[in-house]
Parts: sequence; structure tokens; C-alpha cells
Amino acid sequence: MAEHIQVLKSEEEVDARIKQMGEQISRDYAGREIHMICVLKGGSFFMCELAKRITVPVTIDFMSVSSYGSDTKSSGVVKIVKDLDESIQGKDVLVVEDIVDSGRTLSYLMEMLRDRNPKSLHLCTLLDKPDRRVVNVNVDYTGFQIPDAFVVGYGLDYDQKYRNLPYIGVVEFD
Ligand code: IMP
Ligand code: MG
Repeated sequence: MAEHIQVLKSEEEVDARIKQMGEQISRDYAGREIHMICVLKGGSFFMCELAKRITVPVTIDFMSVSSYGSDTKSSGVVKIVKDLDESIQGKDVLVVEDIVDSGRTLSYLMEMLRDRNPKSLHLCTLLDKPDRRVVNVNVDYTGFQIPDAFVVGYGLDYDQKYRNLPYIGVVEFD
């Protein structure tokens, strides 16, 4: 099936918003260190840009989870594909995600991380689709709330493509 991409948030809008988020997070964490956890692969572009805008000390780690099911829907069954390299015990942890959709992935992940006794645990997402929420997730920092559409770019993929777009676009099928 052929598809094309309609711009939803331009490169300038996304960059400006990430800068604001970095400033807010730096204020909120003043005097502390942030241990950022990137959820691969989607969160990687956002985390790099956000980390560059944070002025308090930052350490980073990566985790990869996959939800079984079709490409555009998550099934609620989450598998850890790559676990963290370091312990999060006693750390101020900030989980960085690309998007919260049904909330199933994040709800599972946050629960699991909480069991590992971080000093604090917060969630930052570039995008949120609140209309699609099935499981409640407490999101601390949101870049943009967006309507119920399938989006790509800035780390988000359709069939592993389009992650490298420097803007957020909606996938439309011809
Ligand atoms: P959940 O439904 O909140 O568990 O979403 C889990 C994952 O589905 C996200 O981390 C994304 O990887 C993927 N996802 C959800 N909505 C979109 C979208 O619009 N475009 C690309 N990936 C998406
Ligand atoms: Mg993701």
C-alpha cells in the first residue's frame, strides 16, 4: 500500500517544544542528577534532543520492550528485549518515551521500574494520544497532545520506516 506523510508538528515546533521541556525539567530537578531511561527505539531521537537541553547532570541508560500484536496496535503483552545496564536504585529516574497511546506499555514498564526502588520515578513523553487511553498512566511531562491518528517521525516508525524525519507527520494511505 502506498502512503504519504502529512506534517502535524513541524521541525521548528518540535525543537522549540523540546527546548521548553528541557528548561522546565532542569528547573524541577535543580540540585539533583537525572538518570534518563530511553525506551528504544522510538524514544531515542527525543531523548538525545531533550538531554542536550537539560542543564543539571544527566546519566543515560536504554531499555527495549516490545508488545506482541499487529504493527499499529499494541496488545498489552509486553516483553523486555533489552534490560537496563545499570541499577536504578536510589536514583532520580526519568523515563523518556516517544508516545503514550493505549498506555499499556508504559503502565507495565513504570510498574516494573518502581519495583526496583528508584528514589523518584517520572515519565516524559514527546506525544500523547489521550483519546486512545485504555490503561491509566501518570504522565509528568508531555510535548504535545495529538488526535487519534497514526504518526511517524522523530523516532516513531511505520513498518520501521520514517524514524529519521525531523518532524511529526500523520501517515495517510492513498
Ligand atoms: P501503547 O499503546 O501506549 O502501549 O503504545 C505502545 C507503542 O506503540 C508506542 O511506544 C509506539 O512504539 C507505538 N505507537 C503507538 N502509537 C503510534 C503511532 O501513532 N505511531 C507510531 N507508533 C505508535
Ligand atoms: Mg515506543
